[in-house]
Amino acid sequence: MGETLSARPLIDGARAGRSASGPCFGTVLGFLAAFRRDPLGFLSESWHAYGDAVEIRFRFPSHWRSYMFFDPEAARHVLQENHRNYAKGIVFQKLKRIAGEGLVFSDGELWRRQRQLIQPTFHRERIAAMADMMVDTTAAALARWSDAATGRPFDLAAQLSKLTLEIVSKALFGTSLGAEQDDFAAAVTAALEYANHVTNHFFTPPLFVPTRANRRGRDAIGRIDRIVWKIIEQRRREGSARHDLLGMLISARDADTNTAMDDKQLRDEVVTFLVAGHETTAVALSWACHLLSQHPEIEQRLHEQIDAAIGSTPPALAELNAVPYARMVLEESMRLYPPVWATIREARAEDQVGGFCVPAAATVTVSPWITHRHPRLWEDPERFDPERFTPERSAARPDFAYFPFGGGPRGCVGRQFAMIEGQIILTMIAQRFRLHDIAGDVIPDPILTLRPRNGLPMRLEAR
Ligand code: HEM
Repeated sequence: MGETLSARPLIDGARAGRSASGPCFGTVLGFLAAFRRDPLGFLSESWHAYGDAVEIRFRFPSHWRSYMFFDPEAARHVLQENHRNYAKGIVFQKLKRIAGEGLVFSDGELWRRQRQLIQPTFHRERIAAMADMMVDTTAAALARWSDAATGRPFDLAAQLSKLTLEIVSKALFGTSLGAEQDDFAAAVTAALEYANHVTNHFFTPPLFVPTRANRRGRDAIGRIDRIVWKIIEQRRREGSARHDLLGMLISARDADTNTAMDDKQLRDEVVTFLVAGHETTAVALSWACHLLSQHPEIEQRLHEQIDAAIGSTPPALAELNAVPYARMVLEESMRLYPPVWATIREARAEDQVGGFCVPAAATVTVSPWITHRHPRLWEDPERFDPERFTPERSAARPDFAYFPFGGGPRGCVGRQFAMIEGQIILTMIAQRFRLHDIAGDVIPDPILTLRPRNGLPMRLEAR
């Protein structure tokens, strides 16, 4: 797994700073150019060169600072202990163009109120009630894959993305979007590409400026909105409560004021779930399938456990516990390839992190990509070994040694949903197919999420 270090030095344009704790760049643009060239390489090289805490300085403006922290204690401090001091900051601000004030992007009092309203919607029992839908949707997709792909190469990453979007839209709206599903999927994919574009560029003109990228972004958002608004309006007209996520969001009431969400907030939350709730899960499953195809002995072990515990019948929710290896494979895949590979925050006030003084307004990055490979925490870290995730070994690990879902109050609200969905899909794929990766070296592409670059061409062999 040599891709963690790039051959070309990424921080060679940086001047040695006054202390040995990190590089100094001429401007923020110089830093962003170096970072964008190879984000994972930049993180790795910085970590190897400077250790667990890296301070990035700039000659102009000279008071600006950016920090990267790679040990679990620092991640816990920033995401949990002193989370109030850390706002989502500029990157998330830009993404508001797409998902407005949805839960991932909002901050302060609005976020707190919305999280309180939304959290109960994601209780395990409520998600459990959706397990049958996840199984049925996966079964239909796998039947299509069998027809289209057994023995012939096809892009498994694209298919997984389609499947997880269908599952999250059914969870939200109660039914599939029927004839509109394909257009909706294409619009969500285009919106994600636009999100990548705005996060990758320092200066991006506001959405109303008719650049090529903005026109595409506006078109994608318009197509999503048309469908989402139609569904919200239809629900309002019906008036009766439904038990899908949208129904729960509509009937949720603020504990203090007893008020419901207005339509604009509902729209923002729905779009946020659609975007945050499918790509990440598809990416996690793509890497799990890739790793299984590279490790036939581990794939074999998974097949044996599934055959012994549930055979070829679709897994009921209660049976997922009988196939712990599927969960362990998924967790180990997210250790090596965390779909959200870095989390960025902006300090509201000065703080101490890992012995460093972080000034107000500095950006702070924590990265599971590095922490999940820290040799102090993980023996032989590059080895794919699901046995690391037995309950005993997981319990013995320090907090935030493993944090693919983030952590603290802003940790992933869809975690249970994603784990149940991921285990169901992985188990059902393993029941049906043996996986053969035909891409050779699959390179992670750290855009918003850690997708496999150029997809995941696979050959599926029927078992
Ligand atoms: C394997 C799949 C997933 C991964 C790896 C993942 C990862 C994450 C991470 C790292 C965060 C924290 C981001 C930060 O601190 O800035 C987060 C937040 C969030 N995720 Fe997920 N997620 C996954 C699946 C889902 C699903 C299925 C949903 C919804 C159906 C979802 C909805 C959200 C929301 C709404 C937030 C914002 C929570 C808040 O700020 O209060 N995620 N996710």
